Amino acid sequence: MKLLNEILGIRYPVIQGGMANIATGDFAAACSMAGALGLIGTGGMRPEDLRAAIHTVREKTDRPFGVNIMLMHPAADEFAKIVVEERVPVVTTGAGNPGKYMDAFKKADITVMPVVAAPILAKHLEDLGADAVIAEGCESGGHIGEMTTMTLVPQVCDAVQIPVVAAGGIADIRQMRAAFALGACGVQVGTCLLASAECPIHDNYKAAVIKAKGSDTIVTGRIGGTPVRVLKNRMAREYVKREKEGADKMELEQYTLGSLRRAVFDGDTQTGSLMAGQTCGQVKEIRPVADILRDLCGEEFGA
Ligand SMILES: Cc1cc2nc3c(=O)[nH]c(=O)nc-3n(C[C@H](O)[C@H](O)[C@H](O)COP(=O)(O)O)c2cc1C
Repeated sequence: MKLLNEILGIRYPVIQGGMANIATGDFAAACSMAGALGLIGTGGMRPEDLRAAIHTVREKTDRPFGVNIMLMHPAADEFAKIVVEERVPVVTTGAGNPGKYMDAFKKADITVMPVVAAPILAKHLEDLGADAVIAEGCESGGHIGEMTTMTLVPQVCDAVQIPVVAAGGIADIRQMRAAFALGACGVQVGTCLLASAECPIHDNYKAAVIKAKGSDTIVTGRIGGTPVRVLKNRMAREYVKREKEGADKMELEQYTLGSLRRAVFDGDTQTGSLMAGQTCGQVKEIRPVADILRDLCGEEFGA
């Protein structure tokens, strides 16, 4: 089996997850320069922001990088056009089916790696021409599916022939080894990079991640079908309470409008949406990305 670092031409078999409003060009460049695959997250961006972020990465490094396109984003078509025009080396996709872009991506020599939360979707995307899949378990921060990484990764590996990257619940070398034991060729991480020196979130957000124990996350939106894992706070508890009381989707959407931006930019830890996964309990201090990756991978995985 080829390892992810060999497939992508990078040092470590690690992808920095394309986190909405967080994974800027600067952050992606920092992660690529530290030896991972840095990703620009299009969530929260306008098309012109994406183009500028791609140029930022290219000004800072000639190492491989990628773009994460959330397919439910209203500008997804424009993002797809930009990554083709700019010949971005790697595209990851979330929340949907990238089938209609696949021909254009292939013609531009883009490595396409959709994020999947179920084995059946992985198989479907392999048939559509995906180069690899990122199997993301529900321990992860942000939008999640139902299956855990432990159950999802081996079942995706059984369902497809293409390489499988494990995501969700990975923050140290023990979990790296576990991911490889389950059949993955590499990992994608998000939560353990939130408290990096280079991560552009507000200091209050970083402090909340560091303070949180592994049991301090909660899933909002389970009833409405859009589950999102966040740190417990006033907003998240109130959301889940209102959901259980039968609040309609519009009311809940209204309630959380702009909440991720409030957390990321204003450091509002009470009414902001502090997306984070269950590995928050392993994040103890703010460190440079290079140190986080070195400890995550150890000599075994390229350090
Ligand atoms: C704050 C935050 C925002 C995220 N936003 C996105 C996103 O916009 N698109 C996406 O595909 N994944 C997103 N994710 C998921 C990550 O890309 C990654 O798969 C996940 O964080 C890995 O699990 P971990 O949090 O346990 O490390 C987000 C994760 C976090 C923590």
